[in-house]
Amino acid sequence: MARIPFVAANWKMFKTRAEARAFTDAFKKSWTNDGRVKAAICPSYTAIATVAEEIKGTGIHLGAQNIHWEAQGAFTGECSIGQLKEAGCDHAIVGHSERRKIFKETDADINKKVKACLKEGIVPIFCVGETLEEREGGKTQSVIMGQLAAGLADVSSSDAVKVVVAYEPVWAIGTGKTASPEQAQEVHAFIRAWLAEAFGTEVSEKMIIQYGGSVKPDNTEAIMKGKDVDGALIGGAALDPAGFAAIAAAAAKAKS
Ligand code: PGA
Repeated sequence: MARIPFVAANWKMFKTRAEARAFTDAFKKSWTNDGRVKAAICPSYTAIATVAEEIKGTGIHLGAQNIHWEAQGAFTGECSIGQLKEAGCDHAIVGHSERRKIFKETDADINKKVKACLKEGIVPIFCVGETLEEREGGKTQSVIMGQLAAGLADVSSSDAVKVVVAYEPVWAIGTGKTASPEQAQEVHAFIRAWLAEAFGTEVSEKMIIQYGGSVKPDNTEAIMKGKDVDGALIGGAALDPAGFAAIAAAAAKAKS
């Protein structure tokens, strides 16, 4: 079964509600929901309901950038999956390297978040990736393997198939330094082999593995040509509606 490429915009802490609306107004005009590519937008919490309203009926998906694993409680500053689902989300980014590094999220936290998403019927976009130091020290595979094993601990094969893995080399995020198509494919193949070992080939062959890190309209097609590269998680270039539309079109082209 062919995997449908999946591109997701991670807006990080950018865009007011008015700016989000201006983006969706423009993006919708170039979006044809023809089934060749799947797209999601992950805004800040404040803009989620606004974007939900704007994308109704378009087939565009909506994701949170973070979730809490508890259903409710005294967790100042957090949002539950139930709250985010009610606001229109069907996806959530989990374990982004900025959350791991700046907000000290641990592998154990990330595992709780992945499992909570699966329990509540939200697709986790589960991020893994090595730092420059780890890559230069020859530790890329061991780091990725550790993150996969911890983040997906106690996840069944029937749940794993719903997980989107995002390979985001930390040294490529927001730096303008993209992994070469060969570097990306090499790690993606390694991830898929690990998933096959953990969950079986039937599951691993269906799973979407996105690449993230300085993806731009002009490098998308080459990266997406990698046979195990099924999409992209995009920060900077997806703040611009024309840029995100061009990336979605390039992803569809690469896989057609
Ligand atoms: P970038 O960010 O595209 O700006 O490098 C990617 C990400 O952090 O998901």
